[in-house]
Amino acid sequence: VIDIFTSSEHSYSIEIGSEMLSSWSDLVRKKLKTDTIFILIDENVWQYHKQTLGPWFESLATVHTIHIVPSGERSKSLKELSSIYDFLLGNGVKRSSTILVIGGGVLGDVGGFAAASTLRGVSFIQIPTTLLAMVDSSVGGKTGINHSTGKNLIGAFYQPDGVFVDTHFLTTLPHKEWLSGMGEVIKYAAIKKPDLFDRVFTLLADGVNPSSTEWIPIITECVSIKAEIVRADEFELGIRAYLNFGHTFAHAMEAAMDYKELLHGEAVFMGMIAATHLSNSFGANLDVNRLVRFKKYLDPVWPAPCMDFDKLVNLMGNDKKNTTEGITFVILDSWGNPRKQTVTSRDVILKALSSAVDDIT
Ligand SMILES: NC(=O)c1ccc[n+]([C@@H]2O[C@H](COP(=O)([O-])OP(=O)(O)OC[C@H]3O[C@@H](n4cnc5c(N)ncnc54)[C@H](O)[C@@H]3O)[C@@H](O)[C@H]2O)c1
Repeated sequence: VIDIFTSSEHSYSIEIGSEMLSSWSDLVRKKLKTDTIFILIDENVWQYHKQTLGPWFESLATVHTIHIVPSGERSKSLKELSSIYDFLLGNGVKRSSTILVIGGGVLGDVGGFAAASTLRGVSFIQIPTTLLAMVDSSVGGKTGINHSTGKNLIGAFYQPDGVFVDTHFLTTLPHKEWLSGMGEVIKYAAIKKPDLFDRVFTLLADGVNPSSTEWIPIITECVSIKAEIVRADEFELGIRAYLNFGHTFAHAMEAAMDYKELLHGEAVFMGMIAATHLSNSFGANLDVNRLVRFKKYLDPVWPAPCMDFDKLVNLMGNDKKNTTEGITFVILDSWGNPRKQTVTSRDVILKALSSAVDDIT
């Protein structure tokens, strides 16, 4: 159990375990203010887990209504948000209601934003079902959707009332999605805990099963790092931005792909390699191989549309962290020591991109 106390004095705990959902029923029930729950669930998660989830929902509350959200990044859209509003308001959601958001980062982001904005805020509980959502997106209250001009440009900081991480969900997660989540796991090694590099690499090399409890200490460590950062900087006025290491490159790549085919964690992994080269241009002396060696297991592919570097740099111009002087990146002075750097020279960014492509291909 990891506790979060944010600066807005909203506190909640993150429970982590394997095959634990039914034993968490009492904890979930204690968080409900009424006997009605609204469930937003990813379509694949519902498909695979309805036999156990259906009876579990019944045990939690007298009334529960379910809205199934289509899988994929394209659900982080005004269109899907609008259909979630129709579901919640059409079924009489009240401020005292609770929304259960069950799925990966996409569902967490769009569902969390629906919770934040419906009736100016309905409480919600996150039940992440992908590795990425478990170690990163379900914790910390960043919610939102994409816009055609860029990723995550519409949203709100809105903390959940609880997060329940049951690694049993990983038994059905496609392997490629699990590897994508590994991109964010490795990010914690880069920005905060370099010893995670070897621990994660060893488990991957040993072929440890994604749902094995051997991964739980790694997941817990990632969540602890995220919790510590969110506690210190809930609204990303300072150090929280460090969680975006590699993301300025990654978000541009995802936008260039129109949010199709390229997975978020996969883009983050390649983005971190580019950001490591960029860090070296600013005086760091990082051995990029500490990241690149993971490509053997993560199997990233630099997509053809992302070879248009000029387009990528133009897309980076829409990033939220930017200042009027240039594009702001998170770089490292050494492993575990990130900082923000505004870059004015286009050539330095192009060089980092081209070195990353050389490493990946
Ligand atoms: N809010 C944050 O702090 C934050 C942090 C990192 C990433 N994100 C966002 O997270 C999103 C990516 O999240 P993601 O990688 O979890 O992708 P996702 O939510 O799209 O899930 C990936 C795929 O796995 C399927 N799936 C989910 N759980 C499953 C399960 N247990 N079994 C079988 N299939 C399952 C989904 O249907 C989907 O097809 C991006 O939009 C990214 O911007 C947000």
